[in-house]
Amino acid sequence: MWNIDLTDLEELKPHADRLFEKKKSLDESRPLPNSALQRIRTDLSIEWTYNSNSIEGNTLSLRETQMVLQEGITIKGKTLVEHFEAHNHEKAIDYLYTLVNKNYVLRSIDVLSLHGLVLRSIEDDYAGRIRNGGVRIIGANFTPPNANKVSDLLDELISFVNENTDGLNDVLLATIFHHKLVWIHPFFDGNGRTVRLAMNLLLMRNGFPPAIILKNDRKKYYEALNQANNGNYHKLYLLMLQALERSLNIYLNAMPGNTYGEYEPISHIVSEPEFKYGQEYISLLARQGKIDAYKEGRNWLTTREAINNYIKTRKRDR
Ligand SMILES: Nc1ncnc2c1ncn2[C@@H]1O[C@H](COP(=O)(O)OP(=O)(O)OP(=O)(O)O)[C@@H](O)[C@H]1O
Ligand SMILES: [Mg+2]
Repeated sequence: MWNIDLTDLEELKPHADRLFEKKKSLDESRPLPNSALQRIRTDLSIEWTYNSNSIEGNTLSLRETQMVLQEGITIKGKTLVEHFEAHNHEKAIDYLYTLVNKNYVLRSIDVLSLHGLVLRSIEDDYAGRIRNGGVRIIGANFTPPNANKVSDLLDELISFVNENTDGLNDVLLATIFHHKLVWIHPFFDGNGRTVRLAMNLLLMRNGFPPAIILKNDRKKYYEALNQANNGNYHKLYLLMLQALERSLNIYLNAMPGNTYGEYEPISHIVSEPEFKYGQEYISLLARQGKIDAYKEGRNWLTTREAINNYIKTRKRDR
């Protein structure tokens, strides 16, 4: 029932390989100093909270989210619910960190617990509970399954993930889990935030940093889910690879003696007089995951090495 067409994902293999290389070098260079680790983890938790809640419609900015979480400040003009959402999401992340370790096996109870934390004090009637009625997703190309099927579907999905009979890599497995869970849409509300947490259980148990889907990619994310509904995972897998690579880069950049070069905005690199390629072309390579790059706000960052490597390989292939 969860048959998946992987044929058109071949094209993303170089991107995935690059990411696993980075993961390896992160593993090998551990441990980072505790204070540095702690700082990155805190920053990422704030970003994760901001982006995930913002995708859902919360209007707190990144800076406001940080003030709410770190200084306990109330932001004028923002609703109580928006404040709860920020605090709840942070608690859910903390809970997630208590679960993840090498031997972690996905359980539906943990998905429910995360959901319970996400909607605590906001929708107490159904926080942590599977829906008992129909739902629709605005803009989606399908209607989620009937409520009486949800519990079985959820169990099947959890078994699918834990058995992983096709030996899918961690990122692809998390991608498929992400899509199937929002497809089932087990809850009346909070499905997106919950799955963006839960998919990270699958990644972080194996030592990956969290993958954060960016608010700026919301439109792309929804399109990717619509394509996944039609059995095509290319776009969603790419989005996940990019999200994860961004977090990996943040860790790698913090490491003493990292060998990945300096990340700079593409606009800087292409403005050098001796640089032969245009912004459009390099940005396209970045968006397609063909070069090592990640997004900061609206800007793509990459390294000169990444561009040179790509161009060298292109020449060799021809
Ligand atoms: N076309 C689609 N196909 C499948 N799932 C979709 C589609 N569009 C959106 N979704 C998923 O449904 C989620 C919205 O569901 P819901 O409102 O329950 O979650 P939320 O956490 O309250 O909000 P959000 O998910 O927007 O953050 C989206 O985040 C996304 O994960
Ligand atoms: Mg919602």
